Amino acid sequence: MILGIECTAHTFGVGVVEKGKILANVKDMLTTESGGIIPLESAKHHTRVAEVIYKEALKKAGINEIDIKAIALSNAPGLAPCLLAGMKFAKSLAEKIKIPIVPVNHCIAHLEIGKTAGASDPVLLYASGANTQIIAYAAGKYRIFGETLDIGVGNFIDKFARHAKLGFPGGPKIEELAKNGKYLELPYSIKGMDVSFSGMATKLQQLYNKGEKLEDLSFSLQETVFAMLVEAAERALAHTGKKELVLGGGVACNSRLQEMCRIMCRERGAKFYCPAKEFLVDNAAMIAYLGEIMFNAGIFESVEKIDIKPRERTDDVDVKWRYGYRKLRSL
Ligand code: ATP
Ligand code: FE2
Repeated sequence: MILGIECTAHTFGVGVVEKGKILANVKDMLTTESGGIIPLESAKHHTRVAEVIYKEALKKAGINEIDIKAIALSNAPGLAPCLLAGMKFAKSLAEKIKIPIVPVNHCIAHLEIGKTAGASDPVLLYASGANTQIIAYAAGKYRIFGETLDIGVGNFIDKFARHAKLGFPGGPKIEELAKNGKYLELPYSIKGMDVSFSGMATKLQQLYNKGEKLEDLSFSLQETVFAMLVEAAERALAHTGKKELVLGGGVACNSRLQEMCRIMCRERGAKFYCPAKEFLVDNAAMIAYLGEIMFNAGIFESVEKIDIKPRERTDDVDVKWRYGYRKLRSL
């Protein structure tokens, strides 16, 4: 039984996994009226809700504290105050039950959870608020094949939505408006497998200020941005020779993005996997899920050795848990 804790940004969650099966996935997300998240506020939120979320997760999973073998903690990457709040909770729990901690990289967890949907060696299109990356395994690491050169795709969408006074989060509102829109040309910016959104952001604001219809702007935004992401993902599939695509991140909840991925995969004979919505957005089940795989491969630390790594990159992590790597240690 592995308990997972997610704490990297606005979401505090606790998940429970046993033998790859998700027994609980409880979370609480800090929402704000204006949009942006203040790290210290978010950290306070995590500390405030931790105990309640934890108790609820145990109840959902139908387990006792003593059943937990290790705590998987999303110690990287993320906002330092949030990571610290999560770590504090994880450490006190680990000390109390006398169990080790498995340090889990949040971005890699988004990829690995795709395996519950059936993928085995996929390319991940990770499209969230803060992150936009195309990740796949190669030679001992998860490599970033492409990424945004400026802001994350979700933040880009939210920024435009805020400018158009649609409120936060903007993604779902843009998706709704896009259903009745027609196409206007927008800057399409992709270099290799990297994308950028700043040119499009400026153009969208100009068109909005000129009085173009929000429906048309929303439709055009989606078509252009998602085409860029799908093109980059397809190039990564071609480059790596992999045959599976997995989606992750809050923007992946968008039906049009899912549809475009599905079409691209069908056309090139690849398989497309889209995890359920609760596993697309930030969640602790994915932390527990990868934590269990790592724990079984002997990757865990004593409480004193665990620290946060706010800036850890996906390719900083040695992926020792693949292909039967085993280094069991006693603590
Ligand atoms: P991370 O720390 O993983 O980057 P995050 O908080 O930045 O997480 P998520 O919680 O994964 O991001 O996703 C939030 C983003 O998803 C917001 O920018 C929101 O607008 C966007 N989003 C949610 N639903 C949709 C949708 N249907 N279409 C487009 N974007 C969406
Ligand atoms: Fe995330």
